[in-house]
Amino acid sequence: MSTDDLLPATTPGRAVDPPPEGAGRASSPEQDPVPSLDVPPVPAGRERPPMYTRDLCAYFGSHKAVEDITLDFPRNTVTALIGPSGCGKSTYIRCLNRMHELVPTARCTGSVFLRETDIYSRDADPVAVRRAVGMVFQRPNPFPTKSIADNILAGPRFTRRKLSRGQRDDLVETTLRGAGLWDEVKNRLEAHAGGLSGGQQQRLCIARALAEEPDVLLMDEPCSALDPQSTLRIEDLIREIRDRVTIVIVTHNMQQAARVSDYTAFITIENEGEPGRLIETGPTKEVFGNPQHERTEAYVSGRFG
Ligand SMILES: Nc1ncnc2c1ncn2[C@@H]1O[C@H](COP(=O)(O)OP(=O)(O)O)[C@@H](O)[C@H]1O
Ligand SMILES: [Mg+2]
Repeated sequence: MSTDDLLPATTPGRAVDPPPEGAGRASSPEQDPVPSLDVPPVPAGRERPPMYTRDLCAYFGSHKAVEDITLDFPRNTVTALIGPSGCGKSTYIRCLNRMHELVPTARCTGSVFLRETDIYSRDADPVAVRRAVGMVFQRPNPFPTKSIADNILAGPRFTRRKLSRGQRDDLVETTLRGAGLWDEVKNRLEAHAGGLSGGQQQRLCIARALAEEPDVLLMDEPCSALDPQSTLRIEDLIREIRDRVTIVIVTHNMQQAARVSDYTAFITIENEGEPGRLIETGPTKEVFGNPQHERTEAYVSGRFG
């Protein structure tokens, strides 16, 4: 999906921070059109990440849950968000597709850029943002009484995308194949999604998100309700779809972060009542193998959290 079609230009005059760090590939003129003035410039030789946040703070009423998170999500990579329970991982990830604001009294400050657009700019359309930035939750949440095929077609129907019968069949097959579920369900596409196993339901939810051709896929502990075998299938799937979509995954499981992610960001709360802050981020091998901060070392080695 091209976000250019869906989102208006950024609102002029919003403060933004230094250019994104962490993307390692060469930029090209086609991929990186001249940005509007309030978008951070990209250093020569760097590609603008499809998504990045600058000084993101999130609140529930007067409680600040997350403070000043500046982070890049480079194209076609998997970034793991790790940290102890309650440090704000879910809150942060829900700011990345404007779901945080659905909680009464919740708000955030700072910026979330999706390509050239701040998704919090005044005219950005939250529904378009949520199509371009898909989300998968801890508990699989297919529409249980809809058929397997209709779960895949729910997004296009909601947005009134006109598809012929053949196009619908193709979309269902391609997406289910992409999510590694086709062979298991091809003979019962009209069966209720609620009859699938938990692992199958989660793959269906991933397929449903992929049917929207998102730029970014957010996953909040997508395996925490699954058995070990289903978990490994989801991890395989994450590695496969990374070619097509940039992935941000929250996980409590250090082995999982090490297995599936390219980059890791460690968030924690220093003292009771304080907001969650980003302590360290970098290539997963470095964060796990040679952490720069004592807190990260203690967490990844299992000494706290
Ligand atoms: N709906 C909510 N209303 C009020 N406070 C919330 C809500 N959801 C989360 N919080 C608070 O925000 C903080 C971060 O929570 P959360 O993002 O769920 O952490 P994590 O996902 O890292 O476990 C916690 O202090 C939590 O109590
Ligand atoms: Mg959480």
